Amino acid sequence: MTREAFGVDIGGSGIKAARVDLTTGEFLAPRHRIATPKPATPQAVAGTVRELVEHFSWGGPVGITLPSVVTDQTAHSAANIDDSWVGVHVGALFEEALGGREVSVLNDADAAGIAECRFGDPRITDGPVIFLTLGTGIGSAFLLDGQLFPNTEIGHLQVGKKEAEHRASASAKERHEWSYPAWAKRLSRVLRSYEHLFHPRLFVIGGGVSKHAERWVPHLELDTPVVPASLKNSAGIVGAALAAAEGIKP
Ligand code: BGC
Repeated sequence: MTREAFGVDIGGSGIKAARVDLTTGEFLAPRHRIATPKPATPQAVAGTVRELVEHFSWGGPVGITLPSVVTDQTAHSAANIDDSWVGVHVGALFEEALGGREVSVLNDADAAGIAECRFGDPRITDGPVIFLTLGTGIGSAFLLDGQLFPNTEIGHLQVGKKEAEHRASASAKERHEWSYPAWAKRLSRVLRSYEHLFHPRLFVIGGGVSKHAERWVPHLELDTPVVPASLKNSAGIVGAALAAAEGIKP
């Protein structure tokens, strides 16, 4: 029998959802995406999440990622989302929008990290590993033998005079039109400072850029090995679905 769950990944430009097969980590049907409403207020986003749930006629619990610190189902930061999220009890917000059903809300990078541990490269579950997702910002998940330490947010760590994510996110690469080698130099600086502070055994890197890892991984200069994530774009949704099925609420 298929163990099935439902995940929603809230991003700055799109909100994506899919039904997930929890035995394989694969989507049971193509994912569906709706553009993130503008402004992306909690009420507007909750309306989009409801639309996605209705699109799939899904009746069970729902896992939802947010690019924010989430503790006790409350959002505490808003680096790349609308400021009005700070302090919102997101558990209650989505539960109400979804007719009172069970929801689990967690940080987007934490969700992706959980998914990689379950369905990705087995090296991610061996010892201390830092999973990073490089997109608009830099998201992080700290993993020790596959167990998550949530809400680490090292994309906001100050590296020199700048925040890490302003230095080396994928959007910084795009904004400055850096080549892969030029960007890899900046990313090396950020990863070296992480290496220095946390001494992970491995970095696993997700986000769109992980599809072209062969173009930048060889240019990195650091001691810790770096591997691209295995799940590519699906990791957030899969992690959200796992959180829903297993009642993971950081
Ligand atoms: C946010 C994190 C998020 C990351 C990736 C950062 O700006 O602070 O919560 O995980 O972007 O979306």
